[in-house]
Amino acid sequence: MSGAVTGGGRRARGWWPWTGDGNGQVGHGAVAPGYSAGVNPPLVVPGVYAPQDDTVLLTEALAAESLAAGARVLDVGTGSGALALAAARRGAEVTAVDVSRRAVAGVRLNALLHRVKVRVMRGDLFAPVRGEAFDVITANPPYVPTPPGGLRGRPRQARAWDAGDDGRLVVDRICREAPGLLRPGGVLLMVHSELSGPSATVEQLRAAGLKASVTLRRQVAFGPVLRDRVHWLRQRGLISPEQARTEREELVVVRAERPV
Ligand SMILES: C[S@@+](CC[C@H](N)C(=O)[O-])C[C@H]1O[C@@H](n2cnc3c(N)ncnc32)[C@H](O)[C@@H]1O
Repeated sequence: MSGAVTGGGRRARGWWPWTGDGNGQVGHGAVAPGYSAGVNPPLVVPGVYAPQDDTVLLTEALAAESLAAGARVLDVGTGSGALALAAARRGAEVTAVDVSRRAVAGVRLNALLHRVKVRVMRGDLFAPVRGEAFDVITANPPYVPTPPGGLRGRPRQARAWDAGDDGRLVVDRICREAPGLLRPGGVLLMVHSELSGPSATVEQLRAAGLKASVTLRRQVAFGPVLRDRVHWLRQRGLISPEQARTEREELVVVRAERPV
């Protein structure tokens, strides 16, 4: 394999915005967004979500958490494994789950390439880890509001971002199920768009007994998927006329901690 490392994504057009040499090395002296010099980003298997703005924001939120040696971290909807690798590099005991076979294969490969240990499991959200408990759960779930029958591109790739009429199909499930998998003092970090209802996320997690708030925010440009949906998003009242013009959205990280 040579040239750009390929992958699918809702923002980029399916390539990393920088070049790779096929060995996971970033070329031309560039440092991939969210990575410091000397730290390679993951290789992205074709058809798997390539790390982008939301991945970077969630990685920053994870970096701000103190992780005791051997802390148990779960990265749900792991995609390329970017978050799982970041946690494993810090000595955490990491489990990565994704519904996509390609993602699971890619994360196994990335763990080998990056010489870290990650337990990788295929399945629907928390089903593979039912009955376990974690110190940190990271989630960058599908969260893009989606018109009925509005799958864009190949359905398998769209599974990484399409999330029902209000963008909360998977977010709501995480709000319901994640609290039961946190150890006392454990933390859920979930990134999504302002278009998918951050206040509902915070309210649901508080109702489940967690101390929840939005702890990180970043304005980013709409990617190709949202740009295609501007008219529908306006009709649904999910974006303002100004937003339809500027084509920008705010990404948020919701941090929710289970009291000790
Ligand atoms: C937006 S991508 C995030 C990938 C990666 N965590 C990142 O931050 O770059 C969402 C991922 O969730 C996975 N996914 C979607 N629905 C899922 C489900 N029900 N259970 C497990 N994984 C799911 C997709 O296959 C995709 O890899």
